[in-house]
Amino acid sequence: MSSLTAILSIRPELFDFHGVSMVHYFTDNWENVQNFQARPDDILIATYPKAGTTWVSQILDLLYFGQTCPERQKTIPIYERVPFLEIAIPSLDSGKDLADKLPTTPRLIKTHFPVQFVPKSFWEQNCRIIYVARNAKDNMVSYFHFDRMNVVEPEAGEWNNYFHRFLEGQMVFGSWYDHVNGWWKKKQNYSNIHYMFYEDMIEDTEREIDKLCSFLGLSRSAEEKKMISGGVQFDKMKKNEMANYSTLPVMDFKISPFMRKGKVGDWKNHFTVAQNEVFDEDYKKKMKDPTLQFRTEI
Ligand code: PPS
Repeated sequence: MSSLTAILSIRPELFDFHGVSMVHYFTDNWENVQNFQARPDDILIATYPKAGTTWVSQILDLLYFGQTCPERQKTIPIYERVPFLEIAIPSLDSGKDLADKLPTTPRLIKTHFPVQFVPKSFWEQNCRIIYVARNAKDNMVSYFHFDRMNVVEPEAGEWNNYFHRFLEGQMVFGSWYDHVNGWWKKKQNYSNIHYMFYEDMIEDTEREIDKLCSFLGLSRSAEEKKMISGGVQFDKMKKNEMANYSTLPVMDFKISPFMRKGKVGDWKNHFTVAQNEVFDEDYKKKMKDPTLQFRTEI
């Protein structure tokens, strides 16, 4: 049996890793990842899983290389254009190796690490970091369906159990609450973070592309920005084989597609009234910082 076939047949277990729930696919390469040598112009896209990583990755790739290297978007899948730094699946290139080999300037790199796990060279080089956050309710629902269909994740199990695990932070990459708060706090002493929200992107993609351009110091014509915004709308990306993950063997789209719904408020189709009450009560206790606000509908 090849190592990839072996992987496809068994789900990994969660374990505690420096205080964060993880699975081995994202810790096996820890030393190498921690020693990753960032360059000053590298751009790190950091998110809790399922917050809009792929969407923002595609936008950045188009902003930087859409005009100069349009073939790229047609021939190279998003997970190679924007490597996932900490991933290490036997018999596939590790994210760290893909990042090292990236021929582009800047290099666009993805991570789901909580802020305290980010390799120190990103801070030393004062790299620009784009953090994307999504409201916890939709984030949870999206993660549930992802865990159902992705063999590198633990079994999702039954929804009500998953719901409680999410509240307890028993998810790969740990607690959503710690993740979004940790990155939000980091913004106070590290100015090169652009913290953005999935809900804002849904509301007005062009406006958010403008903000990204300001942060990155990019001047792009109104026409180009409009074209990018149009090209990355959900239905377009869902059909785009180089952006929709259909070429990666670890996901079973028959169970659930990677580009699933792309909406704000799908949680209403999953949460019971009782779960919503439990969630809201718990949320108030965990989310004490009034400056960090999420929208669960728009
Ligand atoms: S991952 O696996 O962590 O990298 O996933 P991530 O890309 O962060 O999140 C996947 C969810 O984002 C939705 N998505 C989009 N929504 C709107 N517009 C566009 N273009 C878009 N691209 C991806 C995707 O559908 C997942 O959300 P759900 O709610 O499951 O549909």
